[in-house]
Amino acid sequence: MEWNARRLDVIEPSPTLAISAKAAELKKKGEDIVSFGAGEPDFETPAHIKEAAKKAIDKGQTRYTAVSGTVELKNAIITKFKRDNGLEYSTNQIIVGTGGKQVIYNFFLATLNPGDEVIIPAPYWVSYADIVRLAEGKAVILPTKKEEGFLLSPEQLEKAITPKTKVLILNSPSNPTGAAYSRSQLEALGKVVLKHKIMVLSDDIYECINFDGFQFSNIAMLSPELKELTFVANGVSKAYSMTGWRIGYGAGPVDIIRNMDTIQSQSTSNPSSISQAAAEAALTGDQDCVAEMAKAFQKRRDLIVGLLNAIPGVEVNVPQGAFYVFPYLTGVYETEGFKKLAASSSEKSKSKLFCAHLLDKYKVAAVPGIAFGDDNALRLSYAMGEEDIKKGVSRIAEMVRDLSL
Ligand SMILES: Cc1ncc(COP(=O)(O)O)c(C=O)c1O
Repeated sequence: MEWNARRLDVIEPSPTLAISAKAAELKKKGEDIVSFGAGEPDFETPAHIKEAAKKAIDKGQTRYTAVSGTVELKNAIITKFKRDNGLEYSTNQIIVGTGGKQVIYNFFLATLNPGDEVIIPAPYWVSYADIVRLAEGKAVILPTKKEEGFLLSPEQLEKAITPKTKVLILNSPSNPTGAAYSRSQLEALGKVVLKHKIMVLSDDIYECINFDGFQFSNIAMLSPELKELTFVANGVSKAYSMTGWRIGYGAGPVDIIRNMDTIQSQSTSNPSSISQAAAEAALTGDQDCVAEMAKAFQKRRDLIVGLLNAIPGVEVNVPQGAFYVFPYLTGVYETEGFKKLAASSSEKSKSKLFCAHLLDKYKVAAVPGIAFGDDNALRLSYAMGEEDIKKGVSRIAEMVRDLSL
């Protein structure tokens, strides 16, 4: 008997979660590991949000809610969109899910037919392509260049669109590069989107973590016509340090929301009632905690970018947001030491080889760039204390030095 479903043939386990799990396992065994793997803020969830969850339990908010979320949370989300983005939505245009990941997954289940194409600019978040494939769509990967700030150009987009193109994914600020689109850059992409009438999935999960006074925009904010073609995915995981609470949300056309609701009603039903109460407090409460966390991330960004760029053969763009850096290793790949390492291994991916050696010999966990569609780099999450950043990067520098000898 063949027990494995065919759909497993097109996907892999999330590499970021796998690396975080391996680093945690080694730490548990007593190894002194510095892990740049995890895609989550290291801060505590703010106290007033935890209090709201405790109150919800005490008030007996412990039962099923409406599948697509409580009216109270939907109203908080509507308020957030108005306050932060100037976007107006009605309740039937909002859905709450078990994390942004589920919202994105259900969006694709609700919109794709077999063979529909989804344009994904690379480097991309690890899950997009696999989610699209699970939903029987075709992931069309468009590589962007480090020299162009890892941003998709309108010309590139125009060229990639075919009669089968249904959705373009935009993730700004980006995981893994930290690149973010300005309003005028989005306007240029928006013209192409309108011309071909494709949908945009705007993944705004890192909206609140941006630096140097950057003004966040998404494509739905540009015009009512673009808003009609946009599905915005967002959530509380990153902005409020609430990764474990599992609340994400989406806003978009009524038909899509209704179909996502149907899918959710036959799969997970509502997200946790207690987490929904906490998310409501997060979105409607004092937003100072968000700005404070973003400020701390900016300080760490400055630290890690400076340290990495000082390593010969390593080059890193300055991220505009999120809490990742995506250093290029092309100079390191040219060293005799790395060439020798590659010759002695059956591993074809240079970034995988680099990361395996880094973890094995230098006790630093990082995610190979190939997982994000670019083998020239590795991704480091700097959601950690400054001492750990210094310790981890000095170990990377030591490995690069050893390879250069
Ligand atoms: C780009 C991006 N989108 C969406 C998510 C989903 O986050 P969550 O499911 O915790 O809301 C993540 C998490 O790593 C992410 O990096």
